[in-house]
Amino acid sequence: MKLISKLSPSMMCADIGKIAETVRLFEEEGIEYLHIDVMDGVFVPNYTLGTDFCRRLRRMSSVPLDIHLMITEPEKKIGWFDIRPGEYVSVHAEATAHLSRALREIRAAGGRPMAALNPATPLSALDYVLDEIDAVLIMTVNPGFAGQKLIPSTLGKIADCRRFLDERGRGDIEIEADGNVSFENARLMREAGANLFVAGSSSVFAPGDLRENIRKTRSGI
Ligand code: DX5
Ligand code: ZN
Repeated sequence: MKLISKLSPSMMCADIGKIAETVRLFEEEGIEYLHIDVMDGVFVPNYTLGTDFCRRLRRMSSVPLDIHLMITEPEKKIGWFDIRPGEYVSVHAEATAHLSRALREIRAAGGRPMAALNPATPLSALDYVLDEIDAVLIMTVNPGFAGQKLIPSTLGKIADCRRFLDERGRGDIEIEADGNVSFENARLMREAGANLFVAGSSSVFAPGDLRENIRKTRSGI
């Protein structure tokens, strides 16, 4: 099953003073998702976007959110985000003792559950949640900051993940690559088997014209 490539620009990399203009341009360009990095300063050593940002962004844009929860005990906090039907919500397998409960909470809230794995976390963390997810988020950098460099082993991990899913009859489960999705890395990630791309500071939000950056990113995937 060949999954369609989709862009999910990382909004923590956006120019905060031009958010309204940026999301309007994204709508015109058919951007599929808006990636919202939520960090609690505990699971990762940083704070970024939060619940109010999600609410305000929904009022400004029709593009569905792709909310990346880098927070501990996410199963207790899904309700804080007013999840809308069709939104992706990813939770980290490393952030909770209750990954299944967190994924079920997302589904019950009308969202599309996504299991997120840090670079060192083996794919076996997915063994018993395949029937509870629509996608897997493969971190290609260690989470917490934009502007980092791709961890080379994660390209192989994307390919291993695609094979892992296909061998279990789950060719329908999407793979999102998140971290240093540059113009060049995006192509390598697509070839490895990813179809969702968190485009941040090294592609869509790289210096230069936004529309041109979107075109260059899409040409590689
Ligand atoms: C990092 C976040 C990423 C980040 C991507 O923890 O999950 O979404 O914003 O930024 P770049 O593309 O600069 O790596
Ligand atoms: Zn992210």
